[in-house]
Amino acid sequence: MRPPLALLLSTALLASSAFAEEGHHRALRVPSVPSYQQECAACHMAYPPGMLPAASWTRLMGGLDRHFGTDASLDAASAKLLTRWLTDNAGTGHRVSATPPPEDRITRSAWFVRQHNEVGPGVWKRTSIKSASNCMACHAGADKGDFDEDRVRIPK
Ligand code: HEC
Ligand code: HEC
Repeated sequence: MRPPLALLLSTALLASSAFAEEGHHRALRVPSVPSYQQECAACHMAYPPGMLPAASWTRLMGGLDRHFGTDASLDAASAKLLTRWLTDNAGTGHRVSATPPPEDRITRSAWFVRQHNEVGPGVWKRTSIKSASNCMACHAGADKGDFDEDRVRIPK
């Protein structure tokens, strides 16, 4: 027996809104996995998993002992859990292609470079900013997934 049409419609609506919600979530919000905050937000913010493709996360997590000039090694169990979680939530949309950006850096991604083309090279090096990787310097709500262009403030 076929389910009533109203039921079918509401299921479809629920499914599509859940997908839209999830799409946004994956791209920008930082979902709460306690060990990600603990292990990966000591030296910089916990970057949204959706901003890199799975291949980049796998490579980064496989080389934590030589992580951008520092040692960010983890115990094997945490590394395994986080690798799984990061790759499960990695970017798959039109912004984040399957091709890993140079050095597996969000800041070397084509979309990042495009979005930030109005930021001059000298600006990134200001002592108030230090590096493009320091999202929070200009996006105060970055750790909550807020990169809205209306709330960007470039410090002097
Ligand atoms: C001991 C300090 C430290 C820890 C812990 C650490 N990182 Fe990093 N990470 C760095 C440094 C330093 C950079 C380079 C920042 C720069 O260029 O300004 C970096 C850069 C990155 C970048 C590239 C940012 C960009 O430029 O796009 C990613 C992605 C990243 N880290 C992920 C992680 C993940 C995932 C973890 C947890 C497993 C982690 N980091 C833990 C020090 C650390
Ligand atoms: C020097 C300040 C600065 C830093 C640091 C910075 N951004 Fe931005 N960001 C900007 C500016 C300026 C824009 C463009 C705003 C506009 O178009 O009006 C922007 C735009 C964006 C957008 C698009 C926002 C939208 O509404 O379309 C995203 C996403 C973003 N940044 C992510 C990041 C991430 C991730 C980092 C760190 C890895 C970062 N930014 C670091 C200044 C910065």
